[in-house]
Amino acid sequence: MKGIVLAGGRATRLRPLTKVTSKQLLPVYNKPMIYYPLNTLIRGGIKEILIIVAPDNAGDFLKLLGSGREFGCKFTYEIQEKAEGLAQAFLIGENFIGNDNVTLILGDNIFVDDFSDSIQNFQSGGRVFAKKVSDNDAKRYGVVEIDDNKKALSIEEKPENPKSNYAVTGLYVYDNSVIQKAKTLKPSDRGELEITDVNNLFLNEGTLDVRFVEGPWFDAGTFESLFEAGQFIRNLENNK
Ligand code: TTP
Repeated sequence: MKGIVLAGGRATRLRPLTKVTSKQLLPVYNKPMIYYPLNTLIRGGIKEILIIVAPDNAGDFLKLLGSGREFGCKFTYEIQEKAEGLAQAFLIGENFIGNDNVTLILGDNIFVDDFSDSIQNFQSGGRVFAKKVSDNDAKRYGVVEIDDNKKALSIEEKPENPKSNYAVTGLYVYDNSVIQKAKTLKPSDRGELEITDVNNLFLNEGTLDVRFVEGPWFDAGTFESLFEAGQFIRNLENNK
């Protein structure tokens, strides 16, 4: 299993904080944001990690994280020239992934759960991780509708009228077919290769598995959520 941290993007919602640096380098209490998703992959038992960054701050990521030796891993870096969508990670990462399976995590997603079982025991298909959110928040995310047996019925990207309150969080596990699937995608109306389209390809094939995030989850991409994540980590650290 290989890992990818997707840490590019425009971070327009956090301006002016992100005018001269990347969102994923901003502090979340006592560590740069990217430490948290990296830690989630490392705890999951992944040793080879590709870090995809935007061109402007690539050097800063290298300076911060280095070869990965300090973390007991091997880090590789690639640049995403333009923020053309989450699913572009599998095109940029094609050589890195090789013939392996891959876990993608978004560089601004903070989880507390230990996903090693879901990552290490993964066999094939696609696996997403859902978390219940408020009605209002659901519109910000990919939303997965599930039946009584917790099987996915539909996944919609930022729906006007969400069919459920289950947001698809920024952690995804796929078999190697994700590379070929990503190659078939066309940019959406917002000009991005959508991860929701990838998930729908697995769903239509009948190979999409939904797991649930038990612990807290933060998508630290807004002032509110960045602040809340910092506060949460502060409490966690102080109660250690
Ligand atoms: P988003 O929060 O959806 O986008 P963004 O970071 O550009 O922020 P904003 O909406 O405020 O402009 O991205 C989620 C994560 O994925 C984040 O860590 C950035 C990353 N990302 C990329 O690396 N490349 C991309 O093309 C996109 C869209 C996001």
